[in-house]
Amino acid sequence: MRQLLTGGQVFREGAFHPGDLVIENGLVAGAGVSVSKFESGNSIDCRGLFILPGLVDVHVHLREPGFSFKETIATGTAAAAAGGVTQVCSMPNLSPPPDGMEHLQAQLKAVRRDARVRVTPFGCITRGQRGAGELADMEAMAPYVAGFSDDGRGVQAEELMEAAMRLAKRLDRPIVAHCEDNALLKPGGCIHEGRYAAAHGHVGISSESEWRQVERDLKLAAKTGCRYHVCHISTKESVALIRQAKAAGTAVSCETAPHYLLLCEDDLGEDGRFKMNPPLRTAADRDALLEGLADGTIDVIATDHAPHTAQEKAKGLDGSLMGVVGLETAFAVLYTGLVKRGVLSLAGLVEKMSLAPRRIFGLPGGAGPGQEADLAVFDLDGEYEIDPETFLSMGRATPFAGWRVQGRNMLTMVKGCVVWQRNTQKR
Ligand code: DOR
Repeated sequence: MRQLLTGGQVFREGAFHPGDLVIENGLVAGAGVSVSKFESGNSIDCRGLFILPGLVDVHVHLREPGFSFKETIATGTAAAAAGGVTQVCSMPNLSPPPDGMEHLQAQLKAVRRDARVRVTPFGCITRGQRGAGELADMEAMAPYVAGFSDDGRGVQAEELMEAAMRLAKRLDRPIVAHCEDNALLKPGGCIHEGRYAAAHGHVGISSESEWRQVERDLKLAAKTGCRYHVCHISTKESVALIRQAKAAGTAVSCETAPHYLLLCEDDLGEDGRFKMNPPLRTAADRDALLEGLADGTIDVIATDHAPHTAQEKAKGLDGSLMGVVGLETAFAVLYTGLVKRGVLSLAGLVEKMSLAPRRIFGLPGGAGPGQEADLAVFDLDGEYEIDPETFLSMGRATPFAGWRVQGRNMLTMVKGCVVWQRNTQKR
């Protein structure tokens, strides 16, 4: 079957070119070539729109199995499709957690049944995803997972992390680390240990609780030769440590999330939608993250889409659970907050949200010739207001509620099939 996306700006070899995109039997047959208007086949009018390789979000909590009252594979991947995300890597803080083939198979079966976009799970590092004790059955899970992570908690013991890295290296899979040293946490810590916490009487979470473990792990990664990816970095110290390790040749990559690039503790309000782990840090941390993004220290922007129920997020900064949603807002807030303001080029944003995550995790699909057609078609002009009530995700808590943004997804395609389309085309 032949499909045409006509008249758009097509992303090819690092830049956008006007032209058409031809898809044959699910594969990109020609990118950016102008196809005769007499050509037969299904044609989608993309005039005025930008055709991107589908976004890849390597940090998503789909909550199933175990927490389907917060999100399901069906709703989470519908949210991904709406946001132009064609592939997610799902985090393993589930019940039961994927710490061996039995539990992983159950999750993979639900993915095959319900997922609207590609889903590649992470397997646990530790048995029971405890961040302690013994290693999960990493060997059996390796062929089916994007890597290993205990996201939600850090692996506390150095010897255990070293053993995990040695095994991950042998299995040729990355360790994807949530860095948090429990010994440096205070009970009840809910936001950054800084100016806002002091002024409003909240218990803080120190920057050191993140960067100390980043520092430890970078040494272990250098020692073991394991591919090491740091999740959701939020502090200037983490940026500096990773920059240094990259310069020294360590095989490290990292991600941060839109909220750490666009917000800081100065933007906090007494509302659960500003609470996530790690927390929003200082303006100096945010600026260091922006520098790290520009100089290549930060490879990837991932959302840490972490849905909770309205009740779980309605208990202010102290009482709410940690986590905010991001799949349906990430591109627009970053396009508006970084690209429109001249901080990052549009091609740079495509690199961080689409190309780099594919490259680092070896994931298929894209807009290039011969690739399985995973695409997102964006309208970069029309302005709209972020309204959580319209989300397909069951989670509604976002610090970006009410923002006026540009960069709206109009159509999402996975393997050449339209999996989502905005019903009110602008023309
Ligand atoms: O804010 C967060 N929420 N941070 C995490 O590390 C875990 C996540 C969740 O699962 O809710």
